[in-house]
Amino acid sequence: MALERLQALEREYVMGTYARNPVEFVRGEGCRLWDSEHNEYLDFLAGISVVQIGHGHPHWVEAVSEQAAQLAHVGNLFYTEPAMRLAERLSKLSLGGKVFFTNSGAEAVECAIKLARKRKRGGGVVVLEGGFHGRTYGALSATPQEAKQAPFAPLVPGFVAVPRDDPAAVAGAVSDDTAAVIIEPIQGESGIHPIAEDVLRAAREACDRHGALLVFDEIQCGMGRTGQMWAWQHVQVTPDVMTVAKGLGGGLPIGACITAPEHADVLGAGDHGSTFAGGPVIAAGANAVLDVVDEAEQLVEVTDNGETLAEGLSDIGLEGVRGRGLMLAFEIADAPDVARRLLLEQRLVVNATGPTTIRLLPPLTVSRDEVDEALERLRSVR
Ligand SMILES: Cc1ncc(COP(=O)(O)O)c(C=O)c1O
Repeated sequence: MALERLQALEREYVMGTYARNPVEFVRGEGCRLWDSEHNEYLDFLAGISVVQIGHGHPHWVEAVSEQAAQLAHVGNLFYTEPAMRLAERLSKLSLGGKVFFTNSGAEAVECAIKLARKRKRGGGVVVLEGGFHGRTYGALSATPQEAKQAPFAPLVPGFVAVPRDDPAAVAGAVSDDTAAVIIEPIQGESGIHPIAEDVLRAAREACDRHGALLVFDEIQCGMGRTGQMWAWQHVQVTPDVMTVAKGLGGGLPIGACITAPEHADVLGAGDHGSTFAGGPVIAAGANAVLDVVDEAEQLVEVTDNGETLAEGLSDIGLEGVRGRGLMLAFEIADAPDVARRLLLEQRLVVNATGPTTIRLLPPLTVSRDEVDEALERLRSVR
C-alpha cells in the first residue's frame, strides 16, 4: 500500500498520539531495514532498544516459529515450559527472587509499585526528576514530567520527585513512610543521563534505613545494553526489585518485575494478573534473546563497539557525547530536524529525545563495520 494511503488511514482511524516519520518499513535483517521503496537503512534505534539481537535473528525466528506452531496461548491458569524457564533464568541472572511477567514496561513498573505499596500500606514513592517509567496511571505518576502528567490529573497520590543529581535530596525524601524509591540507573527517554553512583548509593542506604524498597527500572538500560547484563552491575548498587521489558522479547511484547528473595512472596494469589503475560511464544522469543545476550563475548562486544561509537562521535566533533555501551546520546541544535534528515537523506535510523538530543540504541549485535558506517553517515550533520 502506498505511504500516502497509510497516512490517510492513520488520519482517519488512528488516534494521533504519535508523530510518525514518513517511512513504511517492510523488512529487517540484522541492523538493516528496508522500506516499501526498497531503500536500505541502518537501524541505530532498534525500535527504541527492543530489537536487541537484530531483526530476524535466525535463532529467535526459529524459537518463536516453532513455539507458535506448537502452542500459542493457554493463559496463566496452566503451566507452559518457556515461561517457567524464562523466570528461572531471569531470577538467576539478577536478584535471585521471583518474577511476574507483563506485556510491557509500564506494566512491569505497575507491578513494582503494587508490590511496594502492599508491603508498606499507603507508603510514598520517591522518584527522580527526568525519570520515565511509562504511561499507565501508576507508571505515569512515577514520571515527573509536567507535559505528560498534567492533562491526566489527578494522578496516583503519594509520589514525590527529587533532583536526579543530589544524593542528599534523595536521602532526605525517604522516610519510614516511604514504600519505594524508583530509579532508572541510566535515564533513557530524557536523553541518556547516567545517574551518579553516589545518588544510587544514597538511595540504597536511605531505603535500608527506612525499610523502603529500592526499585531499579532497567527497561531501557538493561538486557546487556550497557555492556553488563544490568546497568546497576557497573556500580554494584543492588536493588530489591527491578523491572525489565523492551529488549527482553527481541521484538515481541514482554516485561518482567523481578524481586530479591526477601520480597519474592509479597504478592500472592489474586493480588495481580494478566491474560497474555508470559505466553509461550513470547517467552520462547525471550529465552532466545537471552541465549544470545547472556554470553560474555557478546557483552564485551557491546562495550567495545560502544566505545568505538562514542569516540567516533566525539572525533566527528559532536558535543555532549554520553552514555554507556550501546546506549549513547549527543547534543545538537534542532535535533528532531537532524534525526529526520539522517533518516530520509542518510538512511540512518536514530531518534531525538528532545530539542537538542539525539539518541543511539543499535541492536547489541551491531558489527564494527556497521558502527563505522553509521559514523560516516553521522558526519553529514556536522
Ligand atoms: C525506563 C523505561 N521505563 C518504562 C518504560 C515504559 O515501557 P513501555 O512503553 O513498554 O510501557 C520505558 C519506555 O520507554 C522506559 O524507557
